[in-house]
Amino acid sequence: MIIGIGTDLANIDRIQGTLDRFGDRFRNRVFTDTEQAKAKRRVEEASTFAKRWAAKEACSKALGTGLRMGIKWRDMAVSNIRTGQPVMEVTGWAEKRLAELTPPGHEAIIHVTLTDDEPWAQAFVVIEARLVANPASSA
Ligand SMILES: CC(C)(COP(=O)(O)OP(=O)(O)OC[C@H]1O[C@@H](n2cnc3c(N)ncnc32)[C@H](O)[C@@H]1OP(=O)(O)O)[C@@H](O)C(=O)NCCC(=O)NCCS
Repeated sequence: MIIGIGTDLANIDRIQGTLDRFGDRFRNRVFTDTEQAKAKRRVEEASTFAKRWAAKEACSKALGTGLRMGIKWRDMAVSNIRTGQPVMEVTGWAEKRLAELTPPGHEAIIHVTLTDDEPWAQAFVVIEARLVANPASSA
C-alpha cells in the first residue's frame, strides 16, 4: 500500500545563486558526501544539486513532516545505482519518522524519480509499505 507521496519543483538558477553566495556552507549543510561527489564530477553542478534539493523536499512531504525547523537535510540522501536510477536513503529523524508511518508487519520502500529541464528540477517520492513475508504462515 502507498503510505506517502510528495513532489517538489526547484529552480536551478536559484540553487546556482545560493551556491555562488554560500558555497561550501550550503553544500555541507544540505548535501551528503555522495551527493557532493556526484555534483562535482558534472558540468551541471547546480542542476544536480537542484534535483537532490527537490528530492529532499518531496521526501519530507511524503513523510508528512515538511521541512520543519531543525530537521537535517542530510538525513534524506540520494544516491544512484549502476543503471543511473536514483535511490533515497533516510537516516536520523527521517528514518525514525518512516518507522512511525510503517504499519506493523510491513517494510517501507521509498521510490524516487528525478528530472530536470533548465531552469527547473523536479522530484516525486512515493513511499510504499510492503507486507513482510512470514515463512511460518505460508507453510
Ligand atoms: C534515464 C534517462 C531516460 C534520463 O533522461 P534525461 O532526459 O537524460 O534526463 P532527466 O533530466 O529527465 O532525468 C535525469 C535523472 O534520471 C534519473 N535516471 C537516470 N537513469 C535512470 C534509470 N535507469 N532509471 C530511473 N531513473 C534514472 C536520474 O535520477 C537522473 O538524474 P541524476 O543523474 O542527477 O540522479 C536517460 O538518461 C537514459 O535513457 N539513460 C540510459 C540509461 C543507460 O544508458 N544506462 C547505462 C547503464 S546500464
